[in-house]
Amino acid sequence: MAHIDEAALPEGVTLGRGHGDLPVLRIETPAARAEVYLLGATVTEWTPAGADPVIWVSEQALFRTGTGIRGGIPLCAPWFGPGLSKDKKPTHGWFRTAEWALADAESGADGVTLRFTLDGADADVPDGEPADIRGEYVVTVGTTLTTSLTVTAGADGLELEDAMHTYFAVSDVREVTVTGLDGARYFDKAPGGRAVNAQSGDVTFTRETDRVYQSTGPVGILDPGKKRRITLTKDGSASTVVWNPWTAKAADMADFGDDEWPSMLCVETANALAGHVTLEAGASHTTTATLSLEAL
Ligand code: BG6
Repeated sequence: MAHIDEAALPEGVTLGRGHGDLPVLRIETPAARAEVYLLGATVTEWTPAGADPVIWVSEQALFRTGTGIRGGIPLCAPWFGPGLSKDKKPTHGWFRTAEWALADAESGADGVTLRFTLDGADADVPDGEPADIRGEYVVTVGTTLTTSLTVTAGADGLELEDAMHTYFAVSDVREVTVTGLDGARYFDKAPGGRAVNAQSGDVTFTRETDRVYQSTGPVGILDPGKKRRITLTKDGSASTVVWNPWTAKAADMADFGDDEWPSMLCVETANALAGHVTLEAGASHTTTATLSLEAL
């Protein structure tokens, strides 16, 4: 782990050891509580004062170097799923399984801001993949949560796919409605799904759902059981991925409890499939997501 000067951390930020004895930054301010593992720079908690946790993590999650965390906000890049060529490993790219470095931390009007960096030269990049790609991730924890991922291409340029693969805690996904995608075209990755579809009305959940929407606008996650609405606004993101594994896929995943699927929902701020970004050598792209919470 790169050295972190604990004395230089702003008030309310501490460095500790989390699950699996992995290094974790904990933020505790009057506005919110949050937690970020250096593994994948994965945010595993954001709980605004007085609210229930917004982010979900599986009871079965593995906290192990080189493995993605099942829950939180894993960072998928430089590809999404198996990538545009459909054969890349690890699934969802090496950003989420690498250890990131904390570059700086400060307190400001919007809350506590942590900046993490990742350099392919120091990471376990799969053979045959360019190792001169760099990542920067800025997380601001306050009454809202803003996460901003910048990917910089190496000498060969890059067909970039990325995602902030956010797992939301919900009361029961069968009661939840996702607003803001009406009319959006989507690619359906669920079994039996078709390549081109258009969303009609709000998104509701009655089966395995795995869709890559072409959408740049905000979405709402309306949860009557928790009496709240989460609003996700985004910038630099051409795709919104909506995923719930339902019963069979949940049972297939070793790091996901068989009965946990009703309590989570992924809504991902992404650039995936047709929404990928072409970067020239040395060029960068920034994808930003802001979460806010409203009691109903
Ligand atoms: C979603 C994908 O983003 O992530 C799904 O659209 C996938 O197809 C899910 O199953 C989980 O992926 P993983 O690699 O974390 O098991």
